[in-house]
Amino acid sequence: MRVGVLTGGGDCPGLNAVIRGIVRKGVQEYGYDFVGYRDGWRGPLDGDVMRLDIPAVRGILPRGGTILGSSRTNPFQHDQGIARIKENLAKQEVEALITIGGEDTLGVAARLSDEYGVPCVGVPKTIDNDLSATDYTFGFDTAVGIATEAIDRLHTTAESHMRVLVVEVMGRHTGWIAIHSGLAGGANAILIPEQRFDVDQVCAWVTSRFKASYAPIVVVAEGAMPKDGDMVLKDGSLDSFGHVRLSGVGEWLAKEIERRTGKEARTTVLGHVQRGGTPSAFDRWLATRFGLHAIDCVRDGDFGTMVALRGTDIVRVPIADATVRLKTVDLTLYEEVGVFFG
Ligand code: F6P
Repeated sequence: MRVGVLTGGGDCPGLNAVIRGIVRKGVQEYGYDFVGYRDGWRGPLDGDVMRLDIPAVRGILPRGGTILGSSRTNPFQHDQGIARIKENLAKQEVEALITIGGEDTLGVAARLSDEYGVPCVGVPKTIDNDLSATDYTFGFDTAVGIATEAIDRLHTTAESHMRVLVVEVMGRHTGWIAIHSGLAGGANAILIPEQRFDVDQVCAWVTSRFKASYAPIVVVAEGAMPKDGDMVLKDGSLDSFGHVRLSGVGEWLAKEIERRTGKEARTTVLGHVQRGGTPSAFDRWLATRFGLHAIDCVRDGDFGTMVALRGTDIVRVPIADATVRLKTVDLTLYEEVGVFFG
């Protein structure tokens, strides 16, 4: 049997570990051969493939990014997109497709499988950890580690100058990276998209921290918004994928803190640093296990299925379960962490 593999959406540390797990087990245990589709859904759309065999996956376990390339191409937005994919799979004798991606990539896989009979298996990925149906996604642990290290470093420079340091982390819709790295890094305020924040309250925390002779660190997720809605986004336009550009909350907040407290403030936007470089040991472990289980789904003919982590077990769920709604930070958890604010 020939199996196609693709990685779609934003890249994420651990993608190569999944690919390696799939190919190693598929070749060695089941005698399958593979084709790698380039750049997410663009690959099957254009029939653009690369060699994917044991030598191709040698040495990629600790490498960030994806050897297959990625894109946010959506075949449903292309003329004859689905027909072209079906035609290319047939021409290239690909009998199953393993799709590694986030909400958008998996949304396409679910529809292709359920509505058009294309045999897809899903593997969830995102540094944001906001996919339902799985306890964790790989990439998240690495991103939290990078953000935590940054916060640790910012503490010492903040203390030396007795300044406020605002750290903007990724998380357009959810505050998982913010809450995990903020707690691990000992932040004095953590602001998440799930709950609009009160700037006066943030300033009160900042002031109380200075009163105790410490310099405050404020962690803010890129999608967090103030309660009074008076935030001026640097750029409120839509990007080419229809996402509202949210860059700017960190900068805006630092200025507001300076204006309202009279204390000097600086902003660090961590951005794509959180997505780059070598995956953590946990992410390699999770990604590899996802890969091994995904190829088992193919062997079982279990299509329309996604692998997911439940506790310490890898389970199978319908792909659509991951995309129906985002997994947001529970406000009880947010309240629990709030004991450290100020
Ligand atoms: O979904 C992952 C993510 O890294 C988000 O946290 C972030 O908002 C977005 O992707 C950035 O996307 P791009 O790489 O297209 O700018």
